[in-house]
Amino acid sequence: MGPLNDKTIIVTGASSGFGEAIAIACAAEGARVSLVARRVAALERVAADIRATGGLALVCPADVSDDDQVYAAVEKTREAFGSIDILVNNAGVNIPQRSIEETEPEQWRKLLEVNLTSAFVFTRAVLPAMKARGDGLIINIASRAAMVPNLRAGVAYSTSKIGMEALNDIINLEGNAVGVRACIVNPGAGNTPIMDLRPVHISHEERMKMIQSEDIAATVVYLAKLPKRVNVNLISMLPTQR
Ligand SMILES: NC(=O)c1ccc[n+]([C@@H]2O[C@H](COP(=O)([O-])OP(=O)(O)OC[C@H]3O[C@@H](n4cnc5c(N)ncnc54)[C@H](OP(=O)(O)O)[C@@H]3O)[C@@H](O)[C@H]2O)c1
Repeated sequence: MGPLNDKTIIVTGASSGFGEAIAIACAAEGARVSLVARRVAALERVAADIRATGGLALVCPADVSDDDQVYAAVEKTREAFGSIDILVNNAGVNIPQRSIEETEPEQWRKLLEVNLTSAFVFTRAVLPAMKARGDGLIINIASRAAMVPNLRAGVAYSTSKIGMEALNDIINLEGNAVGVRACIVNPGAGNTPIMDLRPVHISHEERMKMIQSEDIAATVVYLAKLPKRVNVNLISMLPTQR
């Protein structure tokens, strides 16, 4: 039992990094969490951790760039846990190629499908029921690159995250009047496996100064606990020392 014990939450990209920490933290507050990602063994490990402390977790393996798998994951969650209260669009990737010339069009398309189109399709799958119920929260984990496109994040990644900002605004424009809220969370550098793809090696010391997964998880729990009359629509987070 906890403050989120009446909530069902879908977390995409729950097999590592921010998503794993978000799922564990929400479950610790009593939420029923649906874990979405491709790596089944990693999802099973996260689910086992949650269940070991008395939490409720559902493993929903899916490639978020496949619309059918997205709809199937949402349906599986509804069947197991009932209506979906909160969607956390967190799944995301970057590629080692960061410049326009290095990035192949096919890499660009794939990255936008995973980072941006998946968030649109997940939103599309949960929004009608949220609107009908007059309640729902969609949290979009984007990036500092959504606010300040930059060469370090690269062209495809920056573009995908700016797209999430537009999606977040449109969810609020369409949904606020009927009780649906959206918040975009824009972290700066975070100490997760995605950093392994940076073209330049990052030292342990540098990683420790970065935002940690538990910081993002605490932010999502804070948003999830707010009363539905409050719409925090943007959170920007930077490492203090950078
Ligand atoms: N770390 C940072 O510095 C930072 C900063 C700002 C924003 N972010 C954003 O935070 C989010 C989480 O990233 P992270 O840093 O926690 O990195 P991460 O540990 O690499 O996590 C990425 C997650 O996305 C999932 N994923 C990737 N492609 C997928 C696909 N096609 N279908 C389903 N799931 C997929 C991965 O699961 P599978 O591989 O199992 O599918 C994994 O769970 C991303 O959107 C990232 O852009 C990260």
